[in-house]
Amino acid sequence: MPDPVLSIRDLVVEFKTEDGIVHAVDGVSYDLFPGETLGIVGESGSGKSVSTLALLGLIPQPPGRIVSGTADFKGRDLLKLKKKELRRVRGNEVAMVFQDPMTSLNPVLTVGNQLGESIRTHFPDEKKEVVKERVIDLLKLVGVPNAETRYAQYPHEFSGGMRQRAMIAMSITNSPALLIADEPTTALDVTIQAQVLEVLRRVQAETHAATILITHDLGIVAEMCDRVLVMYAGHIVESGDVETIFRAPRHPYTIGLMDSLPKVTEDEEWLRPITGSPPSLIDLPPGCPFHPRCFLARERCRQENPPLAPVEGSAHQSACHFSDELIGHKSKFSQEAVA
Ligand SMILES: Nc1ncnc2c1ncn2[C@@H]1O[C@H](COP(=O)(O)OP(=O)(O)OP(=O)(O)O)[C@@H](O)[C@H]1O
Ligand code: SF4
Ligand SMILES: [Mg+2]
Repeated sequence: MPDPVLSIRDLVVEFKTEDGIVHAVDGVSYDLFPGETLGIVGESGSGKSVSTLALLGLIPQPPGRIVSGTADFKGRDLLKLKKKELRRVRGNEVAMVFQDPMTSLNPVLTVGNQLGESIRTHFPDEKKEVVKERVIDLLKLVGVPNAETRYAQYPHEFSGGMRQRAMIAMSITNSPALLIADEPTTALDVTIQAQVLEVLRRVQAETHAATILITHDLGIVAEMCDRVLVMYAGHIVESGDVETIFRAPRHPYTIGLMDSLPKVTEDEEWLRPITGSPPSLIDLPPGCPFHPRCFLARERCRQENPPLAPVEGSAHQSACHFSDELIGHKSKFSQEAVA
């Protein structure tokens, strides 16, 4: 196994609010390996964004606070870097793509200019024509039609999908080692979503960047990712390679997520949302944080919080006292996936 590009250990992030301390990320550990796409999936508020934003110094402090943890990225602990050093890491080695590209694109600069500027920060002596050519190549790579014309347009002249493509182009101007895409297609309609995902895939094949793809959509994980972390209430509750987890999920929450995917089969329309709602992160229930919603819960679950532990080999982990009882359990989704 190659060395990980990124290695997170025991990350704990809190927010101080009027109502109390929000335990947004509570002891998260994971590795990201070269060239792989790791999905982070979970309901809204489960800590997906905070667990990655914290690494890059993008949590407002206060109210946020990184209580503990390490984040080893190519031999340095990101959590110990000074602001200036982190900014350099963000600009050079790590790229981010967010749900709303307008937050990252400058509305008063043409798309071509912004991409050019971004290239120029890394190659200040490059000739103007060469930079322009590279920008147009990038726009073509991310599937912006009429790249020469689009080069001179402003972000507001681009549609949502086109803006997201421009954002992806921007994120790879400097060949990052790590690409973090946080719900990159959530704001887009389904057809455009598929196209943008295709662009991400193409870009990843071209750059070989290790990628973290944050999404609430398991369908996207199935299509795009090699491995997945399932997050619930600030904890990783299951992790493993995508194929294994879809075939043989070993955490009741993962099964719930799979079964709540809307599906239309020949004879039925299927949608079974997980009952109840995520707990308050200020006042987590004792024991397993999922127990109030869990179909397997019993007394021990109300008392003891299960650690994330290997369930078969070291690659597949689940945080459930009774994960063995799920061997052979077929979610509606996995039945279809196998069929
Ligand atoms: N600036 C903040 N102040 C207070 N609480 C915050 C702040 N930012 C995030 N949180 C809290 O931290 C928790 C985790 O948030 P996070 O944004 O990581 O969730 P998420 O899984 O990315 O959800 P979504 O799918 O909605 O993006 C949430 O309960 C959220 O309310
Ligand atoms: S530990 Fe108990 S409550 Fe938690 S997921 Fe497992 S069975 Fe459900
Ligand atoms: Mg988020």
